[in-house]
Amino acid sequence: MLRCTIKLVLVVLAMSACARPDPVPEELSLGVPVGFDPIPVPPHNRLTEAKVRLGRRLFFDPILSADSTISCATCHIPKILFSDGKPVSQGLNGRLGARNAPCLNSSVLRYQASL
Ligand code: HEC
Repeated sequence: MLRCTIKLVLVVLAMSACARPDPVPEELSLGVPVGFDPIPVPPHNRLTEAKVRLGRRLFFDPILSADSTISCATCHIPKILFSDGKPVSQGLNGRLGARNAPCLNSSVLRYQASL
């Protein structure tokens, strides 16, 4: 009898765990300075706290580069509007590119204009 009761409790617990829906991620809105148009967010890819955390982590993580030495933030430095302040950007092993890293704030404006 005790074995049956334990089995029944386990089945009920398993079923209730399966039936519980995933928590709905909290949706964020992007704040923009006064005078700027709102930044469009695709309806199929809403902005959430978790996505912002992941994006920030990846942006600063050098593991995305071939030899794990540079991250996005190496060339897009937040303190200087996500640019690098150099005439041309420097990549792996100090190799120079042909262009400078543009500040990424204006990427949003280009994205808006492309819609
Ligand atoms: C070695 C330097 C370097 C690194 C590292 C780098 N970028 Fe860039 N980024 C550039 C340069 C240079 C350009 C301009 C390319 C061009 O004009 O063809 C650019 C352009 C861009 C643009 C387009 C900007 C626009 O408005 O046209 C975006 C967005 C961007 N980078 C994001 C990233 C992200 C995200 C990462 C990391 C995954 C990253 N970059 C890593 C140098 C870099």
